[in-house]
Amino acid sequence: MNTVHDTRIIQLPKIPDERGNLTFIEAGRPVPFVIHRSYWIYDVPGGEVRGGHAYKELEEFVIALSGSFDVVLNDGKERKIVSLNRSYSGLYVPNMIWRHLENFSTNSVCLILASLAYSADDYIRDYELYLDAIQGENECQR
Ligand code: TYD
Repeated sequence: MNTVHDTRIIQLPKIPDERGNLTFIEAGRPVPFVIHRSYWIYDVPGGEVRGGHAYKELEEFVIALSGSFDVVLNDGKERKIVSLNRSYSGLYVPNMIWRHLENFSTNSVCLILASLAYSADDYIRDYELYLDAIQGENECQR
């Protein structure tokens, strides 16, 4: 079973240029899965929280394309908060990690690259069911 220690920041290529910097992602690198979907979260009102669930199978890569926000990761035993604020790095999150996004700055844009097409069946939205699924013994606060 994955833990918060299996999440990691991955640096993306950055082509600095006086006309404006450029960053890119290719199939299979450096994002460690084949991307089947991308979506983005934006116009988040101050104080709002997104997410608050785990995915049974889906892996994701989260990038702060603009502004900043925090990704709060929880594996049922440990909690880890990762602040994202660069458009040339991102956070890899494997499946079966409970996570939510918070502390969005004004005008921030969160891009999420996902390993699977959208499926409501892949979500675990109940924290108790998540804990049951991972058979965690040392529960911690969401
Ligand atoms: P959801 O992932 O539940 O967002 P959050 O966890 O932040 O509340 O998605 C919100 C809604 O958007 C939900 O009704 C499903 C829909 N949705 C899609 O149709 N396709 C997608 O790729 C995503 C991510 C969400």
